[in-house]
Amino acid sequence: MSSLHKTKEMKSSGGFSSALLHWYDKYGRADLPWQKERTPYRVWVSEIMLQQTRVGTVIPFYERFIAAMPNIEALAEAPEDKILHLWTGLGYYTRARNLHRSAQTICNEYAGQFPKDLDRLQALPGIGRSTAGAILSLSMDGRAPILDGNVKRVLARYHNIEGWPGQKLISEQLWKLAEIHTPKVRVADYTQAIMDLGATCCKRIKPSCSICPVQRECQARIEARQDELPSRKP
Ligand code: ADE
Repeated sequence: MSSLHKTKEMKSSGGFSSALLHWYDKYGRADLPWQKERTPYRVWVSEIMLQQTRVGTVIPFYERFIAAMPNIEALAEAPEDKILHLWTGLGYYTRARNLHRSAQTICNEYAGQFPKDLDRLQALPGIGRSTAGAILSLSMDGRAPILDGNVKRVLARYHNIEGWPGQKLISEQLWKLAEIHTPKVRVADYTQAIMDLGATCCKRIKPSCSICPVQRECQARIEARQDELPSRKP
């Protein structure tokens, strides 16, 4: 049976998330600057920076940005050129402009508090479904799935999902799986765990399957299709 048919009635047994959490406790990253004080503001800034930039590059920019803009009010009130200056070198400057606009909306319409529901978060400029899920799960104890590039790769391989994730049907299927696997407890750790697994173990090229906590059930590994999944853009 293909994974497509299975997912309809599938419920997670919790085996996947338990294995990831166990792995995370031993091998996950716990000292990234945005993990130290997991407030919605700090997590949001990190997630926006990490949307198109890798962790190693982001860290010094993140530290400088937070030092200059320690809270959402400071960001909302700052002149745009100051924000763009802090962003210089990171690229994709729309992210910085959206950050500024979102900060102003949160201060003006939500009294400086991040909304706790997915739809309102997603309505803010620069916050898509996965970033909204990351903010909720990492900093507000919300049970919301994420589906960034790393997570897509982990799930496409684990469930042997064929098809380019940019296609609507495939993306819907991956979101469904992301939802099914998200546990009710330790959501923040699970969210960080699946991102870390994708970044450090389930790498795009030469994944380290022999040290993977879910290698036994991974359909791509069983069928030796790791290199083919996720499928590339046709
Ligand atoms: N990429 C996106 N979000 C991340 C996070 N919280 N930690 C590491 N890499 C990430």
